[in-house]
Amino acid sequence: MGRTPARAIDVASGQRPQLAMHAPSSPSSVRGLVLQGLVKIHPGPVCALRGVDLAIPDGMFGLLGPNGAGKSTLMNLVAGLVEPTAGRILLDGVDVVADPRHMRERLGYLPQDFGFYPDQTGRAMLEFLLKLKGVTGPKGRRALADELLERVNLTAAAKRKVGGYSGGMRQRLGLAQAIAGNPRVLIVDEPTAGLDPEERQRFYRLLSELSSGRVVLLSTHIVDDVATLCPRLAVIRAGEVVADTSPGAARRAVDGAVHEGHVADADLPAFAQSHRVLSAVLDEGRNNRVRVFVAPGRTPPPGFQRSVGTLEDAYLALMRCPADELPPALARSAAGVRAGGAA
Ligand SMILES: Nc1ncnc2c1ncn2[C@@H]1O[C@H](COP(=O)(O)OP(=O)(O)OP(=O)(O)O)[C@@H](O)[C@H]1O
Ligand SMILES: [Mg+2]
Repeated sequence: MGRTPARAIDVASGQRPQLAMHAPSSPSSVRGLVLQGLVKIHPGPVCALRGVDLAIPDGMFGLLGPNGAGKSTLMNLVAGLVEPTAGRILLDGVDVVADPRHMRERLGYLPQDFGFYPDQTGRAMLEFLLKLKGVTGPKGRRALADELLERVNLTAAAKRKVGGYSGGMRQRLGLAQAIAGNPRVLIVDEPTAGLDPEERQRFYRLLSELSSGRVVLLSTHIVDDVATLCPRLAVIRAGEVVADTSPGAARRAVDGAVHEGHVADADLPAFAQSHRVLSAVLDEGRNNRVRVFVAPGRTPPPGFQRSVGTLEDAYLALMRCPADELPPALARSAAGVRAGGAA
């Protein structure tokens, strides 16, 4: 299934000549993070970001996209770990590509793969990380570590070795170092991958508590994470932002276009040739329960019933349907973003 081709980027210069740049009003007056025409070409060359324009306000902001979409690249750029090939990043109006220290001093980062020393206790590990980060508290580093462990509900496990921590406990320890120094920007890259549902909920709650008064950029390919946590989100696909919206607006945009029915396993390949299949899951090990996207004006497959649209449906529609078939509200947000404006 095709979609509108990405705008051509000159790989040598990273420039996208026809990009219309509309930063939200005057960037210097905007509180939060503003990304303008962000391009990143990795060695290869691999064009990981193709001109990203986003305005990210205070609070939780979800970055949703499949593997290889460019989420970590975007976060590494915001964190100042890699330089953009082209484009600007502004934090509260300050250009942090030109002044990376401004970001470094205000940043907490939980990367996708956080390496801990398994033989260290949680508290010793955290103290070590605080030292690396150059952060201490009024009562010293040990006291700050204890405060942070309390904040992430790890006090009881402070003296246990990190090697024996569950995935969720390790992520909470990672979050403890990230929030040290009260950062203005908190970046968390796929933090709930591999966590069981209970640990995920606990991690969500903690993140949500920590989001007040700061920008929290959360990347994930788990749509539920975003639906639960984020008032705003961007969908990124092959290095392009294809939607800049809210979970509610995205759901409303696809509501009425999603239909559900059953299709036998053997018939599924042919069915998928002629319908926009969003998802197909085995139902009690027999037929597939299939959700399809039916573009406005088209007829649903026989026997299919209209179903309430979800954020996952909207996300999958953005991944699988050509832009001209998307519902106007979703297409508008995608088109607005493609033209360089915040939708
Ligand atoms: N250092 C690098 N050198 C070369 N190519 C890279 C580098 N880092 C990322 N890429 C490529 O850039 C693209 C975007 O990768 P990125 O890691 O940003 O995606 P992602 O959305 O975070 O994926 P995932 O969900 O798998 O973590 C991919 O094609 C990837 O292979
Ligand atoms: Mg990643």
